[in-house]
Amino acid sequence: MSYPKVTIVGAGQVGATAAFVLATRSVADVMLVDVAEGLPQGKALDMMHSRSVLKFGPRVAGTNDYADTAGSDVVVITAGVPRKPGMTRDELLAINAGIVASVVASVVAASPEAVVICVTNPLDVMTDRAWKLSGLPASRVFGMGGVLDSARFAYFIAEATGAAISEVDALVVGAHGDAMVPLPRLSTIAGRPLTDLLPEAEVAELVRRTVFGGAEVVALLKTGSAFYAPGVSVASMVEAVLGDTGAVLPTCVRLEGAYGISGVHMSVPAVLGRAGVVAVPELPLTDGELTALRASAQQIREQIAALEAADV
Ligand code: LAC
Repeated sequence: MSYPKVTIVGAGQVGATAAFVLATRSVADVMLVDVAEGLPQGKALDMMHSRSVLKFGPRVAGTNDYADTAGSDVVVITAGVPRKPGMTRDELLAINAGIVASVVASVVAASPEAVVICVTNPLDVMTDRAWKLSGLPASRVFGMGGVLDSARFAYFIAEATGAAISEVDALVVGAHGDAMVPLPRLSTIAGRPLTDLLPEAEVAELVRRTVFGGAEVVALLKTGSAFYAPGVSVASMVEAVLGDTGAVLPTCVRLEGAYGISGVHMSVPAVLGRAGVVAVPELPLTDGELTALRASAQQIREQIAALEAADV
């Protein structure tokens, strides 16, 4: 059986988790690429050792050479430096901007037809940068932020209410950062809006925990940031693309007018398929939700301007 090919740039915790999930769920063969010699090869070998236990078909390989990534159907960019305790995602801006620039050039040269999914933080700015440097249509370069933030919101909702996680549908849009916009009105338990089920103060607390969900993990780990939920989240986007499923996932996409927002990448629900972002169906939002979303966009816009002015 032959599988599609996914390249994951960055064999760190997020990249390796995504690779393992994609292989064990029989979604794709994975090429892990990293600058560190031995790291992608070692992690790939370790994953392959688990093949006879889990009985999965795809292969995972590791390399330091982009030539081995040629012909990928999807490329996931996780390369970059993660947060340390007390750091904001934005402090990573200058360091990771340089890394993303060199990675994009290499992956596009090797796989000009690939769909590219960015995971490197600060996510919205790095996705914008990856898209600009790639020369690819915006439909083929997008980012993973909203899936993770929505997953965290869903977890907190399920914990607070005792609802089965499978009954919770949560939605977070906007920046993958402190300006993210959880949408309690459009988050449901068995179809009922959260705003009808919990008092306002409790909803506000779930929103707060969601916004700082990543920072809570960083503070506990002390040596890096979250990786299981981020890895699984990006794997779910790869699966939607390769399966051409038409799943509607909160995706960090280029906005050109939707929600009255233009010229930034940030997470809103998008239809994902084999071509990448197939459509961005606009949700009817209240004035308050729109105001929050536009404030989120403005923050990203300012970061992009700062990065471009710094000419990293
Ligand atoms: C987080 C980092 C990875 O949200 O952005 O955990």
